[in-house]
Amino acid sequence: MSALEKLITQAEQTHRLTREELITLLTDPQADTLLFAAADRVRKANVGDGVYLRGLIEFSNYCKNNCCYCGIRRDNSHAERYRLTPQEILQTARLAQTLGYKTVVLQSGEDPWFTADKMCEIIRQIKQLGLVITLSIGEKTREEYAAYRQAGAQRYLLRIETTDVNLYEKLDPGMRWHQRAKCLQDLKELGYEVGSGSLVGLPGQTAESLADDLLFFKQIPVDMAGIGPFIPHPQTPLKGESTAWHFTLSLKMMALMRLILPDINIPATTAMETLHPQGRIIALQSGANVVMPNVTDVRWRKRYALYPGKICLGEDATQCRGCIEGKINAIGRHIAHAPGFHGEYLKTHKKSAR
Ligand code: 5AD
Ligand code: FES
Repeated sequence: MSALEKLITQAEQTHRLTREELITLLTDPQADTLLFAAADRVRKANVGDGVYLRGLIEFSNYCKNNCCYCGIRRDNSHAERYRLTPQEILQTARLAQTLGYKTVVLQSGEDPWFTADKMCEIIRQIKQLGLVITLSIGEKTREEYAAYRQAGAQRYLLRIETTDVNLYEKLDPGMRWHQRAKCLQDLKELGYEVGSGSLVGLPGQTAESLADDLLFFKQIPVDMAGIGPFIPHPQTPLKGESTAWHFTLSLKMMALMRLILPDINIPATTAMETLHPQGRIIALQSGANVVMPNVTDVRWRKRYALYPGKICLGEDATQCRGCIEGKINAIGRHIAHAPGFHGEYLKTHKKSAR
């Protein structure tokens, strides 16, 4: 057994890797295939063959922030802004439910039009449909997070983007890394299932800082973590950056996350499929167990352009639902019909993870 094989086998059994070991595995291309196969085994043992679907509703692309990587940043005057009415959001949630989704993810830029009161009303109405609600609407006060929780939201997605504080504050001007980390802490304390994650391939990002991202997620610990390759948007300051290594590196980050956090939910992110035609399926075979198909009306999809080359711009919610099911079945997996809470599979299957 080679040293790499030994290291990966040990991680598969103990779910522990040191910072140095993470760096070794992230940087050695010989680890790739071994790592993906090990993550696939750990995924099967701890979360099973079921793939959880979350219906994504992109309800506003107004944003008060100015992140240098993001296509809907405040200063992008070419972005055509849109905002769904609460009624339209509710209708989209109804459509998601008709299509069999158990969870909807309400995502937007940080749009001040949606006050806490308005959000709470939307949450209450969607909750009445019996859907699990995930919010992905950025940094808010602890009181606001508490109000959404009270109204019925159960999950929250807030990527840390990078744990490199200097890089974060350079790329997200006006924002504070410690404030973002505090938001994650607040969400955890308020009883949300917390999803975080990072962007992979940011200019200036190092293998050391990617290893720190993984250790950060383990330390919180997160219930879900989405890893997305950074894809430069032409109307942002980071236009023209290369994406050469972002796909494989993102896949490695996902696989390592599965090794060290064996039973969390890991989405096969949409951005993976922008870089590779089978991106989400490859991710599902390298540790991921969740997909978030878009249910947003086709009129708005292309305007929610965080990065260029977004998939499914011409397809509607029904087509995406059918498409993804076909792809999942084609690799011998199936759509899971449970709500997909963290740890649910092990509880019902009584297997020992560790
Ligand atoms: N490439 C890939 N992902 C991006 N995001 C923002 N801009 C980009 C980009 N250029 C991601 C961020 C954010 C999530 C909603 O979208 O990680 O948290
Ligand atoms: Fe949208 Fe395949 S998931 S077309």
